Amino acid sequence: LISNVSLRRVLDSRGNPTVEADVLTESGGFGRAAAPSGASTGEYEAIELQPSEAIASARRHAIPRLVGEVHAGNQREVDAALRAADGTDNFSEIGANSAVAISMAAAKAGADVLGAPLYQHLGGTFRGENFPIPLGNIVGGGEHAKEATNIQEFLAAPVGAPSVSEAVFANAAVHARASEILDERGTPAAKGDEGAWAPPISDAEAFEVMDEAVSDVADELGFEIRFGLDVAAAELYDEDEDGYVYGDEVKSTDEQIEYVADLVDEYELVYVEDPLDENDYEGFAELTDRVGDRTLICGDDLFVTNVERLQDGIDADAANSILIKPNQIGTLSDAFDAIELANRNGYETIISHRSGETEDTTIAHLAVATDAAFIKTGTVQGERTAKLNELIRIADDAV
Ligand code: PGA
Ligand code: ZN
Repeated sequence: LISNVSLRRVLDSRGNPTVEADVLTESGGFGRAAAPSGASTGEYEAIELQPSEAIASARRHAIPRLVGEVHAGNQREVDAALRAADGTDNFSEIGANSAVAISMAAAKAGADVLGAPLYQHLGGTFRGENFPIPLGNIVGGGEHAKEATNIQEFLAAPVGAPSVSEAVFANAAVHARASEILDERGTPAAKGDEGAWAPPISDAEAFEVMDEAVSDVADELGFEIRFGLDVAAAELYDEDEDGYVYGDEVKSTDEQIEYVADLVDEYELVYVEDPLDENDYEGFAELTDRVGDRTLICGDDLFVTNVERLQDGIDADAANSILIKPNQIGTLSDAFDAIELANRNGYETIISHRSGETEDTTIAHLAVATDAAFIKTGTVQGERTAKLNELIRIADDAV
C-alpha cells in the first residue's frame, strides 16, 4: 500500500514552477516524477493549475484517498482514486499537473516494489521488442520562439537507423549540421524552448535548411533520415480571418490543405502533426485522404490524448496517428486507454514531451512499454537528453 505521498514545487526547463511528487509504499518502494507543461496547449486539454494551488488541492482531496488505501502497483486503482478525488472531467479541481505527477510517481514506486524497470512494469512480459524512433526537433518557432518560423517544429526522423542509439546521435548530428548551414547563410539562430534552432527565416528557407542538413547527415552516416513537421496549426488559425496566418499572408482551409499536401510530396515528409485547426476534423480527414498513404497525419491538439476525441477522429477518418502526452489527460491509465484505442484502429502512436520539461524520464519508458512508433523528445539540452539517454540505457538493458 502507498504509505506516503509528498508534493513540492520544482523548476521546469523554462524556469517556471511545476509539481513534483514522491510516492512511498509500506514495503519500501519509492517513485518520483514531475509534471511537464505546454506552451502551445490544446483547447481541450486537462487543466493545469498554478502549482501551489494544484499541490494544496491534491493534498486536501487526493492524498487521503491514496495513503493506506491503494497499491502503487495497481495503476488503475491509483488513477481511479485521482479521478474520484478530483470529481471533474478535466482535473480542474486538483490540477492535471498534480494528477500526472502522482500517477507517474506511483508507477515508478510500483516498479520499484517489483524490482523491475518502469518499462517492464508498464508494458509487461509480453510487450513488443520494438524501439521508438526519436523525432528530433531541429528548427522551429511558433509558440516556442519569437521572430522565427511560423511552423512550430521541423523534426528529423532517422527512419533507417539500425539502433536507438544511432538514431539519437543522428538527430544530434542533424542539429549540429543545421547550425552550420544557418551560419553559412548568415542567419544567427537563438534556441527555442525545446532546444531547436529558432532563426529569423521564412518557412520556405527552413525547409531548405532541413533538407540539406538531413541529407548531409544521411550521406555521412549511411542510413535513411527523413523529416517531418509539427505545424501546430491551431496557433496559426484565426477565426476572424477564417484562415491560417503566416505573417502577412492568410491561407484559407483549402489552401492550407493544398500547401501541406504539396510539402508532403516535395520533401517526402514522413510525419505531419496538427496540420489544421484543432476543431477541423473535416479538414484533417481531407488531408489524410490525400496523403495518409505516404505520411503520418498526427493529431496532438486535435486529440489531446482523449479517447472521446480520438474516437470522433477515428469515425471521421481524420488522421492515422495520435500524439500521446500524459499531462494532456492527467493519468497514465487514461494515456494507456488512448494508446489501446489507437492500436485497435490501426493508428500509430507517438509519445511526446512538452515544451516545458524536467529531467523526468517516464515518457521514454512509456514509449518502449507500449511499442510506440516514434517518441518526440527534442534533440539536445538536458531535460531532452534525460529522456534520450534513458532510451539508450533501456535499449542497453541498463536501467
Ligand atoms: P507544447 O508543444 O508542449 O508547447 O504544447 C509541443 C507540441 O505542440 O507538440
Ligand atoms: Zn504539437
